[in-house]
Amino acid sequence: MPTVSDMPTAVHAPVGIFDSGLGGLSVLRHVRRLLPHEALIYAADSAFAPYGGKDEAAVLARTVAMADFLVAQGVKALVIACNTATAGAIVEIRRRYPTLPVVGVEPGLKPAALQTRTGMVGVLATERTLASRRFLALEAQIAESSGVRFIGQPCPGLADQVEKGELRSPATMELVRRFVGPLIAAGADALVLGCTHYPFLVAQIESAAREAGAASLAIIDTGDAVARQLGKVLAEQGLLSPPLPTPASIAAWTTGSASSLSTAMRKLLHLTIAAKRIAERPD
Ligand code: DGL
Repeated sequence: MPTVSDMPTAVHAPVGIFDSGLGGLSVLRHVRRLLPHEALIYAADSAFAPYGGKDEAAVLARTVAMADFLVAQGVKALVIACNTATAGAIVEIRRRYPTLPVVGVEPGLKPAALQTRTGMVGVLATERTLASRRFLALEAQIAESSGVRFIGQPCPGLADQVEKGELRSPATMELVRRFVGPLIAAGADALVLGCTHYPFLVAQIESAAREAGAASLAIIDTGDAVARQLGKVLAEQGLLSPPLPTPASIAAWTTGSASSLSTAMRKLLHLTIAAKRIAERPD
């Protein structure tokens, strides 16, 4: 395991962004927009995705392995761009790397509570996130302070559809309808995207909500808030990269297929990047 003293603190060092697979790209796009001078290394654990149906110990082990990989690449900060990994492992990652700034992703219950008019909010997330102590504590706290009711909707199979590049297939649409319909029927007028894969399905979610009779709908994605939090943490620690004449580099690594990650980055973000395979699976 790389030690903290090996970690460069240079402002030019890259920021590591990690997800179980492609979902973290929905966070990367916000980071790129807000902090274009930051060099980025994206790491997808696609060989082990999805995390959502795995047990706590497995998610923890995989998150540690991926964080170790990124630290070994010399990152100056780490974004855990995965709700499931944040819920299950951010405490351990911060313990393991006490001087490394670590930013996680959590379902946006607070902004949703501010936006709902019906007082009913649907939370689309993985089974693991919804069952986590971290999520349950957040839910209890925001429900009590706001009086809003949160309805958790596990979405098994949905992140997989994004992994397969099937954003608009009938099977994907069918799953989206199955998950969104009951939330709208229960009176939800705000839906929290509690998994970083789901922002790539916003149009499909909106359309399923309309079909289910939603008159107005707020969709809450925390990608922008995560990018802002990263900028704040980097600024506080004197780690912000100075402006560069050209956009900073983006590298991409995966435990799965490198060509699939390159294709996904081109299709989802219009970025042309030759992704590389993490040669030895980090566990
Ligand atoms: N993108 C991940 C999240 O935000 C989960 C997807 C998966 O199940 O691996 O929770």
